[in-house]
This record gives sequence, C-alpha cells and structure tokens, in this order.
Amino acid sequence: MSKPLEIADLKKQAKKRVPKMFFDYADSGAWTESTYRANEDDFAKIKLRQRVLVDMSDRSLESEMIGQKVAMPVALSPTGLTGMQHADGEMLAAQAAEEFGVPFTLSTMSICSIEDVASVTKKPFWFQLYVMNDRDFVYNLIDRAKAAKCSALVLTLDLQILGQRHKDIRNGLSAPPKFTPKHIWQMATRPAWCLGMLGTQRRTFGNIVGHAKSVTDLKSLSAWTTEQFDPRLSWKDVEWIKERWGGKLILKGILDEEDARAAAGSGADAIIVSNHGGRQLDGAHSSIAMLPKIVEAFGDKIEVHMDGGIRSGQDVLKALALGAKGTYIGRPFLYGLGAGGKQGVTTALEIIAKEMDITMALCGKRRIVDVGPDILA
Ligand code: GLV
Repeated sequence: MSKPLEIADLKKQAKKRVPKMFFDYADSGAWTESTYRANEDDFAKIKLRQRVLVDMSDRSLESEMIGQKVAMPVALSPTGLTGMQHADGEMLAAQAAEEFGVPFTLSTMSICSIEDVASVTKKPFWFQLYVMNDRDFVYNLIDRAKAAKCSALVLTLDLQILGQRHKDIRNGLSAPPKFTPKHIWQMATRPAWCLGMLGTQRRTFGNIVGHAKSVTDLKSLSAWTTEQFDPRLSWKDVEWIKERWGGKLILKGILDEEDARAAAGSGADAIIVSNHGGRQLDGAHSSIAMLPKIVEAFGDKIEVHMDGGIRSGQDVLKALALGAKGTYIGRPFLYGLGAGGKQGVTTALEIIAKEMDITMALCGKRRIVDVGPDILA
C-alpha cells in the first residue's frame, strides 16, 4: 500500500479493512445525505488568497482551545462505535491525539469506556455527554468523567432523537455485530479486523453496559436512543449539567443564530457550530455556511468552534479564517483508525497539519493564531 498523502487515501484503505456495516456507519448521513455532502462541498467553494514575498520562516500551528494549549486547533470529535473501526479504537485514537498534542473527545456511545481511555493516557481528554431519561445514569456518567479527570465536557444538543440513516438500517448495524450470513461475510472478508476484535474484550458500549440499570446487552444504537435518550432536553437541563460538572463546558450542535444566542447566555465556555456531520437534520445548511453569521453575532461572547466537512488542513484554515477558534475532525481520524490503528490516526493528524502549514505559508502567514479573513480571496 502506498503512503497515504491525503485523507481520501486513508478512506480508501479503511474501506478495505473495516467490515462494511462499520465503515458505512462512519461514512453516512441522514436520508438523502445532502447536508453531509454540503458540509464538504461548501468548503470547496471558499477560495484562498495567494501572497508572495512575505517571510514564511519559523511557522507555528500552536493555538488554544478553551484556554488549553493545542499543537494545532484541531480536536478529535466524539464519534460513536469508534472501537468498531478498529479493536480498542478509542484507546488508540486517544493515545495518538495525546502524542500529537490535540484534544481527544470520547463519545458516550463509545466501545472503550471512560476508565479504559483514562488507563492508557496521561493527559486529560474530553468527554461527550448524551442525556438519557435515566438521570441516575447521567449523574454517574458526569461523575465518572470527573473521576477520570476529563478537562472538558462536550454536551451534544442535536441528537435527542436519532436521524434516519439508510445505510445503517440496510446493514442491520449493531454492536456487537449480529451473526447472520450477511454479517459473517462482511467480517470474514476483513481478517485483520477480525483478528484485532478476537484479541479484545471490548465489543459493545463500554460506558453503558454494566452501568445503566437493566442494560446487560446493547444490540442496536437506534433502539437504545429511541428508548433511552431524553427528548425533552432543554436549556434548563444545561444549567444543572453545568453545575454538576463544574468544569469547562462545550455545547455541540448549534447551527442557528437563535440557539447560539441562548448558548452564549448559558455560561458555557464554547459552542460547536455543527449539524452532527450531516447525520441528523438532512436539508440543513452546512456548518461552514452558518459559521460566519454565528461568529459575527456571538463571537465576542463565547468561543466558537466548528465541525463538519473538514477533510484537509485547508478546510481547517478556512474555518479559522471565518472566525472559528477551534475545529474538530470525525471521519478523517476514523478513516485513519480503520486503515492503520493508532499509526493511522497519527497519519491523519500529520496530513492535516502539513496541509495547514504549507497553505498558511502560501497565504502569507507564519502563525496560525494570525490567520483571519484576510487569507480568503
Ligand atoms: C452518534 O453520535 C452518531 O452520530 O451516530
């Protein structure tokens, strides 16, 4: 296999190594996937400004997100079932992020648990929270994240009911996978993946099974969310969550100015302009299309981050130029993980860093913190 030069190369490799149902889970959007596509397409429409004869020496991608130093302003998104892209995937991705110097965000719907990830990392990671009807379970999750010394809580606001993703339904997605002829075939044709999975005990939702009352097995993500997620979640809940957590709080899934206003007044530390990677409301605008309005209206009141559609370091620069203080990648690191485990995640981060570095220089900047709207044509 030739050396991956761009995220698309990792995607191709992941497709060959990860069973179809799990590759598709990462690579899917809701319904027609129009918002999923718009997230990428709208980045491509933004043009950069070429500058010459400016000092390009001693460049730096270092920045800060919520007051924490980052090697580049690119965090790993919370992604469900990461440990199904590769055995022990969350632990490996967290280690890769830690070594690179960027935040790793563990999803509530992860395969490896909060405690698993804490046991293989030295620096604090971030934890993403979903709010279930079973409040005792939610209190316990927050307390477990505190005990693991997580340095930020990322509260997801845009998934109280699950968007319909056709690929997952057609594939009969579950974790652990079912043993029907179709599923056995999908796995049998990915022997390296199977070998990894045979070598780990972590094959279902590690934060939930054994922690939530009466859940001993968790077959289907969609069944679980329908039964358990609280569809009445409100801004009032944000208050008690903030209170109980007591640390840095990031609100994920803001795409509308009115919601951004409420978020800015909530006392949270940052918001993530996001449409959940196009996986929730199909037909919504892309994140990058909504970012400038939200930054303009509330950028002086709350730190604004964004996710959705970032496939290169150039995309990160465009988001920063439009006012984001930080960005997140989901699929790019998942493709790396599927393609090559921890090394694959490192490769994804290296690809993005290199693209950022070269592009920043060719736009006439030496420090990422100096990137602003003037790099756009
Ligand atoms: C979970 O967060 C998902 O988008 O599947």
